[in-house]
Amino acid sequence: MELKIEIIGFGTVGIGFLEIVNKKIDILKEKFGFIPKIVAISDKIKGTLFDEGGIDLSRLLEIINNGGSLKDYGSGFYDFEKKGALDVIKESNADIMVEMTYTNIETGEPATTHIKTALERGKHIVTSNKGPIALFYKELKQIADKKNLFMGIEGTVLSGTPVFNLIEDTLPPNSINSIKGILNGTTNFILTKMENENMSYEDALKMAQDLGYAEADPTADVEGFDALAKVLILSNVIMGGDLKKDNVERVGITQIKPEDIKEAAEEGYRYKLIGSVEKTSDGKILASVKPMKLPLSDPLSGVSGAMNALTFTTDLLGSVTIQGPGAGKIETGFSIMIDIIRIFKKIRSK
Ligand code: HSE
Repeated sequence: MELKIEIIGFGTVGIGFLEIVNKKIDILKEKFGFIPKIVAISDKIKGTLFDEGGIDLSRLLEIINNGGSLKDYGSGFYDFEKKGALDVIKESNADIMVEMTYTNIETGEPATTHIKTALERGKHIVTSNKGPIALFYKELKQIADKKNLFMGIEGTVLSGTPVFNLIEDTLPPNSINSIKGILNGTTNFILTKMENENMSYEDALKMAQDLGYAEADPTADVEGFDALAKVLILSNVIMGGDLKKDNVERVGITQIKPEDIKEAAEEGYRYKLIGSVEKTSDGKILASVKPMKLPLSDPLSGVSGAMNALTFTTDLLGSVTIQGPGAGKIETGFSIMIDIIRIFKKIRSK
């Protein structure tokens, strides 16, 4: 069976996803019984490639690896003004729309409109875009459920490290009472470098930017907005909350001085930027993002560099901690692939 996929927003993660499709196509066919076919790619800056017969991925990836772009593919290329993302979503024969435009935590746009339009057209959704899920999850999920469509969001928190798959498929029937973790790689990298190598905040931030961990505007990382978006997603998707940005206390890491880190280390503690969501005994959901001094015995203390981690407190298992990458081309590309496999399983089981 073929699964037709359109990609909206084609940055590093999009290229990573195509590399995975190209590399794993035989395994997908043999192990799961489907062939992913990319029928359209649309990007505001790079333009639109539209081929309902399926884009030749080996050829496109070779063009990209040689410094080229969608335009150099030739046939099927349109300027974005002629055929934009919404035209593709409305016109293409795709079964799945993969939304990977840049995260906007203020408005959730243009991704939210892309997702709504695709759901209206009967397309399943896979996204790594935090904006629409942090801001409008309930509304989007209602539309998807009504139409019996799947909305895969694995890549929005901890990239491809399993969070939602784990919660939905592996941990039930545990009740989750709280979640706390390291949700931002840039700030964890900065704190680690400041503590272990006496690096200045500025140098560590610059290094995180050079390594590609930081958001386009690193204020989103260091002031805790990126972690806030992820806390909202965890709260509203996993804990049944309906929190908005203003319901979550948010403090970044810019106030932490090298002396604070040193003093904490002398006392046997370590600073981490912790996102947490907790269900109170009367059923309220409380959430925050703030630097915390953790004892070295806490598994989250040992998570260094750009790694992310989450501890779930459950009723049957006690604490379960997972650690893994929270960003990256292949790591986030994998999150898209795992949700596509889940969609295939859903379609097959009908
Ligand atoms: N800037 C983010 C981080 C990328 O540093 O974790 C993933 O959302």
